[in-house]
Amino acid sequence: MGAEPGTSETVLALDGVSKLFGQAAAVDGVSLAIRRGEVFTLLGPSGCGKTTTLRLVAGLERPDRGEITLRDRVVASASRRIFIAPNQRNLGMVFQSYAVWPHMTVFENVAYPLELRGMKRAQIRDKVTRVLELVGLAETEARAGTLLSGGQMQRLALCRALVYEPDLLLLDEPFSNLDAKLREQMRVEVKLLQRRLGITVLFVTHDQVEALSLSDRIAVMHRGRVEQVGPPRCLYEEPASAFVRDFLGQTVILHGRVGRLPSGHAPPVVAVELNGALAGRTLAGRAAPSVALPHGGAAHLAIRPEDIEVAPHDPPRPETNWLPGVIESLSFVGDRYEARVALGGEYHVALFIPRGREWREGERLQLGFPPERMSVWPA
Ligand SMILES: Nc1ncnc2c1ncn2[C@@H]1O[C@H](COP(=O)(O)OP(=O)(O)OP(=O)(O)O)[C@@H](O)[C@H]1O
Ligand SMILES: [Mg+2]
Repeated sequence: MGAEPGTSETVLALDGVSKLFGQAAAVDGVSLAIRRGEVFTLLGPSGCGKTTTLRLVAGLERPDRGEITLRDRVVASASRRIFIAPNQRNLGMVFQSYAVWPHMTVFENVAYPLELRGMKRAQIRDKVTRVLELVGLAETEARAGTLLSGGQMQRLALCRALVYEPDLLLLDEPFSNLDAKLREQMRVEVKLLQRRLGITVLFVTHDQVEALSLSDRIAVMHRGRVEQVGPPRCLYEEPASAFVRDFLGQTVILHGRVGRLPSGHAPPVVAVELNGALAGRTLAGRAAPSVALPHGGAAHLAIRPEDIEVAPHDPPRPETNWLPGVIESLSFVGDRYEARVALGGEYHVALFIPRGREWREGERLQLGFPPERMSVWPA
C-alpha cells in the first residue's frame, strides 16, 4: 500500500519544526510529509531527536518554531499560537515503555480507554473483539494482562492504540523490550497488520535492520536534522552523505587521492590512487552525489562488503579494480563463509564469501571492486 505519486494524500506534515531544550535544539528545522497508508520511519542514533519529533506530533511537546499539520488541520503552530491537545488529534501511540494494567484482563485493557470515552457496551465489545482477533490475542481475552508473554504484551499495547482507529499510529521503539527472535516476528506482524488495515504509521527506531525491513520510506536523522529521506533501498544504495552511508549497513573504505582515469573508464567515474600499502594501485568508482572531487584531492572509496567480488588467486584479473589479498580468518556459517581478508598494511576487509568453492585460511585470492558499486567521497 505504498503511496503512489500523484494519488498520495498527506496525512501528516511537519514544516520547519524546531524544539529547544534550553539553548540546544533537540529538533532543528525538520520538514517531512507522511503519506496515507505508508510506514514512515525516523531512524538515527541515540539523542538525534526521534522521540522529541514523535512527541511534537503527539502534542506532548510544543514546537518553538514551525508548524505541524494532521490531515488538513494545523495542530501546532509556533507563530500562529495554535496548539491542539493530544486527545484531540486522533492518534494511536505505542511507546517504548508501554504499560499493561495488571489488575485488568486482556479484554479490559483494550476496552478501558473506550469506556472512558463513554462508548456503548455493545460497540466496545465489537471493536475490542475485532482488534484482538487481528493480532491473534482473541483466545487470551479473559486472561490477566500480566500473564502474557513479552510478545503478547507488545501486541496488547498495539491493540490499545489500534482500537481508536487512529488516522496515524505513532510507534516509538515498540520492540525494544523483546528478544531478537520475537522482534523479528513482531516486525513481520506489524507490517502485515498495517497492510491489512491500511493505516499510516510513523515509526521510530535506531535499529537499521528494523527500519530497512519495515519502512516504505525512511528519514535518517542526525543532531536534530533530517539528513535524507527516501525508500530503504535508495538510502542504502545512494546515500546522500557519509553519515547516512555509514549509519545504514556496513561500508568498506579505502583511502587515496583523486587521480587519472584508467583507459576504458569515463566520467562520471572517478579514479582514486590508493595510499599506504596499496600505493601504486588505482580503483575507479562513481562520484558521490553533489560532492567536489578536485584532481589530487584526498578521497575515500566506499563499497558495501556484499558488492565485493571474490575470485581465486589464479588466473590473474585486470589490475584496475581488482586487488590481491590473503584470507586471514575464515568461519563456515552454513550458507556461506565469514572471512577477514588482508589486502596489505592497514587494509583489512570483512566480508562474506559464497560457499560454492572451498576456501582455507591463509589462501590467496583476488577481490573485485566493480566501479558501478564503488562511490567516491572527499576525505
Ligand atoms: N525533556 C527534555 N529536557 C531536556 N533535554 C531533552 C528532553 N528530552 C530530550 N532532550 C534532549 O534532546 C535530544 C534528543 O532527544 P530524543 O529523546 O528526541 O532522542 P532520540 O533520538 O529519541 O534518542 P534515543 O534513541 O536514545 O531514544 C537529546 O540530546 C536529549 O538529551
Ligand atoms: Mg527515543
